[in-house]
Amino acid sequence: MAGPRESIHGQWSSRWVFILAATGSAIGLGNIWRFPYITGENGGGAFVLIYLLCVAAVGIPIMMAETLIGRRGRRSPINSMRSLAEEEGLSSNWRYLGWLGVAAGFLILSFYSVVAGWSVAYIFYVGGGVFADATVEASGAQFEALTGSAWRLLGWHSLFMVMTAFVVARGVQGGLEKAAKWLMPALFVLLIVIVAYAIATGDIGGAISYLFEPDFSEVTGASVMAALGQAFFSLSLGMGAIMIYGSYLPADSSIPRTIGAVAVCDTFVAMLAGLAIFPLVFGFGLEPGSGPGLVFVTLTIAFGHMPAGQLFGALFFVLLTVAAWTSAISLLEPVVAWLVESFRWSRRRASAFAGFGAWLLGVGSLLSFNHWSDVELMGRNFFSWCEFLSTTAMLPAGGLLIAIFAGWRMARGSTVDELGIGDGILYSTWRLLVQVVAPIGVIAIFLNALGVFG
Ligand code: TRP
Repeated sequence: MAGPRESIHGQWSSRWVFILAATGSAIGLGNIWRFPYITGENGGGAFVLIYLLCVAAVGIPIMMAETLIGRRGRRSPINSMRSLAEEEGLSSNWRYLGWLGVAAGFLILSFYSVVAGWSVAYIFYVGGGVFADATVEASGAQFEALTGSAWRLLGWHSLFMVMTAFVVARGVQGGLEKAAKWLMPALFVLLIVIVAYAIATGDIGGAISYLFEPDFSEVTGASVMAALGQAFFSLSLGMGAIMIYGSYLPADSSIPRTIGAVAVCDTFVAMLAGLAIFPLVFGFGLEPGSGPGLVFVTLTIAFGHMPAGQLFGALFFVLLTVAAWTSAISLLEPVVAWLVESFRWSRRRASAFAGFGAWLLGVGSLLSFNHWSDVELMGRNFFSWCEFLSTTAMLPAGGLLIAIFAGWRMARGSTVDELGIGDGILYSTWRLLVQVVAPIGVIAIFLNALGVFG
């Protein structure tokens, strides 16, 4: 039994707050911006079904593993890994898993903030009527006017990073918990308003059959891998965000029930985002497979032609910004917690310092859309390197090591003890998924990234 260890950063006031905060981390650009366009690129229904399988068989077990490691360690990912490894009599090298996570979070935050900045900008563009009766060309030109201007991007990126560091600086209960309690209900309300609006003005039948009628002729090895990668990114796995949130989870909360709720909410919101976006895409005869520009270029055309599109379009980007904000907070928290633990800094100082570092790195990403767009190393510019290294390499590596640590290296008794569901069939299912299914899935993502499946 682990002693009654406590986090020096405090803990959530209840299991519900953890659910809200972890759901806030999970729901983000990944659900509302990335999920619809990746689904669009991979042909719809069959992809959605495979995605759901990946969430259930790989995502949820790894998420439970991250949470239990965090709660047992009760510290930042680096220090939790260090103390658990020691407690379990394992190599102290496991602490590098914590380092990998903190580094990945820092890297993701740097470009995540740039893209989130676009969303903030679009609240004002759409709300200001820029897209009234816009054509495809005009909408594309507007997007390029934004991304082509380093100064504009810098302004929005800076604003978003300050918003993020501000919340993290206020601490677990005063900042993260407050943000989750206010922003998450707002997010759900906004989402329902947007879905209702999309159903009323768009082609809901087309959207439903596109999302839920699987056509397996569209499935390729690459789309299976894309589904697994999306499950990872969307559930915030592999870098310690869920681990640090787990370290603030009260000791008597059941991890499986809590994580089940988070995964269900995240998946539900991805589906709702699909139901908000595809009716508009089909209703206006737009292209579902148009890529990352889907919500910025395509959806804004639809808003520009709909009754009250200016208002609802602006609300849509408020929603996207809120979702990105609660995710960015979880990317900054592990670094800040580690700085506070290691150097006894105040949270304000640690947040300002880490926020500034991620901001600086983000400047490289935002320049990749304009002045540095041709500065490439092996075919990738700075933005694309940050995204590739973190999401395709570091997250799966982190997830794999987390699964191995919890499934193979920790004593069986420790995980039974921490999960709190006894040692029956439920526990054995979890163990099988973490020991075998999840590692195989992740190794498959890697092989795919290396081009083994073409
Ligand atoms: N899950 C968030 C999204 O869907 C992004 C995110 C936040 C994330 N924290 C993370 C992704 C940690 C990977 C790891 O937008």
